[in-house]
Amino acid sequence: MAKKKKKKKVLGKNLPEKFLERTEIIVGKSKFEMVRKTFVDKPTTFRVNTLKSSIEEVQRLLAEKGFKVKQVPWLKGAYILQNRSKRELTTADFYLEGKIYVQSLASMVPPLVLDPQPGEKVLDLTAAPGSKTSQMAGMMQKKGELVANDLNKVRFFRLKANMELLGVDIPADDWEFSLRMEDGSALAQEYPEYFDKVLLDVPCSGEARFIEGYPKSYGYWSEKKIKNLEYRQHKILMAGWSALAPGGYLVYSTCTMAPEENEMRISKLLERVGEHAKVVEVKVSGLKTLSPIMHWRERDLHPDVAKTLRILPTMEVEGFYTAKIQKLA
Ligand SMILES: C[S@@+](CC[C@H](N)C(=O)[O-])C[C@H]1O[C@@H](n2cnc3c(N)ncnc32)[C@H](O)[C@@H]1O
Repeated sequence: MAKKKKKKKVLGKNLPEKFLERTEIIVGKSKFEMVRKTFVDKPTTFRVNTLKSSIEEVQRLLAEKGFKVKQVPWLKGAYILQNRSKRELTTADFYLEGKIYVQSLASMVPPLVLDPQPGEKVLDLTAAPGSKTSQMAGMMQKKGELVANDLNKVRFFRLKANMELLGVDIPADDWEFSLRMEDGSALAQEYPEYFDKVLLDVPCSGEARFIEGYPKSYGYWSEKKIKNLEYRQHKILMAGWSALAPGGYLVYSTCTMAPEENEMRISKLLERVGEHAKVVEVKVSGLKTLSPIMHWRERDLHPDVAKTLRILPTMEVEGFYTAKIQKLA
């Protein structure tokens, strides 16, 4: 019998109506039109990989090859490309040698907020392709212990290749780096209350990466998809929490606007762990923000959710969400 052909979903050309409706509620009527215009391709942004180079060397190489850049005001060694294409940058020798790493600006925020230090024990539970793992290895100056994990095989091998290119996995004194390909909950069980810092950059509906007129970026979006992600995110959050040592810090982040994946996840964690958690107020000077959502779908959220960070999407920065929580001893 002939196999029935699977019907291919026809992707709508415009951003989904329901998504726009929700966005208007989330950002407020006054900012909605401005935010709507930000669903475009962002400029190419990158940071210096201090494990292989220095700010001085990269600035010299950029100038020699005629690349003009603008310094990101809130992060030293991070730049916005001004005069050339991404392709030109990613074919330059210094890119191919791993001296710089192309990364969206908002994606650089969670490591900045977690602030891993040399000598600490750090877990990146959902790490591939390793943008934040490599940023954190640089911040730790390759001193201490860093475990980078990702469940997805294809993405895991991209993570591995990136860690090789960027010099994260080259052995060094006092540096213990391990790559793992496990479900986050299983991995966390091996490390009960072990890490000083835990990064949970969880899988999400990616709304902040939607590009108007590019249906592949949003054609599969639905509220049902958000619902399905909530449980996965909750499990990863509880796993990361269990691997965090008393006194340690956890950062949770997503690249989506959906409150179900952001404030509601943190609110639920706070309800679960009660007085054992302290939300640390997150502020990045120079970064534009929105007020966190405190009420969604007939529910009031935990008052400490107000201390978390919702980044305002602009023409240069995506709308990320970041929360920092300390496990009290
Ligand atoms: C937003 S991406 C991480 C991006 C990464 N932090 C970076 O900056 O390069 C989320 C990752 O979580 C992984 N993931 C999803 N469910 C997981 C699970 N249960 N355990 C471990 N990793 C998981 C996905 O494969 C995906 O690579």
